Amino acid sequence: MSLPQAAAPAPSPAPMPQGRLEVRGLTVRFGTMTALDGVGFHVEPGETFGIAGPNGAGKSTLLAACTGHLRPAAGEVLLDGRLLRGRPHAFCHAGVARMFQIPRIFASLDVRENVRTGAIFGRPGATPAAARDEVERIMDQTGLAPFATRPADSLPLLARKKVMLAAALATGPRILFMDEPLGGLNEAEIEEFSALIERIRAERGLSVVLVEHKIRALVRLSGRIMILNFGKVLRIDRPAAILSDPEIIRLYLGKRHEH
Ligand SMILES: Nc1ncnc2c1ncn2[C@@H]1O[C@H](COP(=O)(O)OP(=O)(O)O)[C@@H](O)[C@H]1O
Ligand SMILES: [Mg+2]
Repeated sequence: MSLPQAAAPAPSPAPMPQGRLEVRGLTVRFGTMTALDGVGFHVEPGETFGIAGPNGAGKSTLLAACTGHLRPAAGEVLLDGRLLRGRPHAFCHAGVARMFQIPRIFASLDVRENVRTGAIFGRPGATPAAARDEVERIMDQTGLAPFATRPADSLPLLARKKVMLAAALATGPRILFMDEPLGGLNEAEIEEFSALIERIRAERGLSVVLVEHKIRALVRLSGRIMILNFGKVLRIDRPAAILSDPEIIRLYLGKRHEH
């Protein structure tokens, strides 16, 4: 028995993939109704992956299943090769964050305290000083610093959305799921919040999964777009290809695609 003369130097570790999502065969049923039927796709690290489709297509259900809020009947979700399972906090600690469709803030708390709830929920191991620094950094990044001590429910809609975004970021995600974040905003606000999402994605190297009805913004932000229809993947393609398909425009994006 002979041992190798000299051990080869250990190969330098490959860079850790950050925020690569793999969804396989995801099926969700509500009673006898199949809301998602074998949905599969992947998101590259740092990609913004757009999702569109008519009302009831299963977009919110998909986000719920990818963030631990709904248990699928079949299929799996992996982040950087690791199977995500269990309750939402387990997904959160694995690097998954979700910004909800309906503004969810703690009305009795001020803006900074709202953002801090994200840090407490998502990073129980962080030292108080580290958590505080990160909260302040996120407040700066999202433009919320001037409103830090304002009651969160006293703010206009765009600012409340920023609070939700900031709280999601404070959990320390590698991937952020957003359900129609631009809903209810006017054109100028859509511009501002789209630009903020894009800047934060770039600065933090986040992957983003973006469900959005405002198609113009979705096309601008997304690397690829998936069209869901009746719980199934109709198409996954570059925005230009999606936009140049009149059938998709007519049937699945709806009249509001000009927005
Ligand atoms: N908790 C639930 N119980 C029963 N049916 C639901 C539930 N949530 C969603 N659904 C149904 O699942 C389908 C997909 O809904 P949803 O994911 O909200 O669609 P989308 O977000 O694309 O508009 C719809 O038919 C909806 O009525
Ligand atoms: Mg929805």
